Amino acid sequence: MARLAEQPLVLAGTGWDDYALIDSGDGRKLERYGPHRLIRPEGQALWPPRLADWQADGEFIPGSDEDGGGRWLFDRALPADGWPLARGDVRFTAQCTPFRHLAFFPDMAPVWDWMGTQLDDMAQPAETLNLFGYTGVGTLSLSAHGPVTHVDASKKSVAQARANATLSGMEERPIRWLVDDAAKFAAREVRRGKRYDGIILDPPKFGRGPDGEVWRLEEHLPALLASCRQLLDGDSRFLFLTVYAVRMSSLALGGLLHGLFADLPGTIEHGDLAMREDGAGGRLLPTAIFARWSAG
Ligand SMILES: C[S@@+](CC[C@H](N)C(=O)[O-])C[C@H]1O[C@@H](n2cnc3c(N)ncnc32)[C@H](O)[C@@H]1O
Repeated sequence: MARLAEQPLVLAGTGWDDYALIDSGDGRKLERYGPHRLIRPEGQALWPPRLADWQADGEFIPGSDEDGGGRWLFDRALPADGWPLARGDVRFTAQCTPFRHLAFFPDMAPVWDWMGTQLDDMAQPAETLNLFGYTGVGTLSLSAHGPVTHVDASKKSVAQARANATLSGMEERPIRWLVDDAAKFAAREVRRGKRYDGIILDPPKFGRGPDGEVWRLEEHLPALLASCRQLLDGDSRFLFLTVYAVRMSSLALGGLLHGLFADLPGTIEHGDLAMREDGAGGRLLPTAIFARWSAG
């Protein structure tokens, strides 16, 4: 029976050549995306900034309502079609989106690395599934280990993911790029008797499938995870779930996985994803909560 590690973990990312969290504080964060410095709102940066110099190429100014909204204000013109970044051999385009992020999530980097280590010793190519796969950085990273099925409701995101595959020189890798509703797709795969070696899912709090299917995390997550459990077996390696911007503890995610994975071996862990500020004395800025199952 899978064991639940009750104490939370912190999975802390650090910057790399093309990305750094330079500083945070007073409800904002200053980041470097390749050659560009950008400021974004950050509700959890409750402390004062460490640095006096917050010069940046642009800043996202949030709207007055709590539901998002807002716009980028630029001090210098940035390339309208974005600019290339890399992490290891995965290359992708960073772009200032109206949703305040840069078309990829740097705090996911330790997750990509962890999934790789779960698959490293497999004798056969690993078959993995990325639900809510967005612009595909996680998918391209997983594709080093074998075939990947990438599912996202947005045609535009899947097109961007395919463009990132081309940018990375990975367009020939065995990746199924699917525009589909994650919950419907997973249920269909269960009916087909499909299995995977690993599954990653990074669902939004609220979303819509390509045919208007409504996704509400609190309502629909348990059934989706139950489907995911059926797509894994005693020889599978991992499931990794991340959740953002919800009023929920990682203990709730761990407890949910523990119930569903009762008949599999291995360990369930949960905790915070965080990014460490660059340089000496860098503080940890929390970004998401997670729960994961690993067979080992
Ligand atoms: C938070 S992003 C995922 C980030 C991604 N995993 C990464 O690390 O780059 C959420 C994604 O879920 C997709 N989405 C929303 N509702 C969906 C649904 N019902 N089925 C499939 N994808 C959905 C959105 O199009 C969006 O790309």
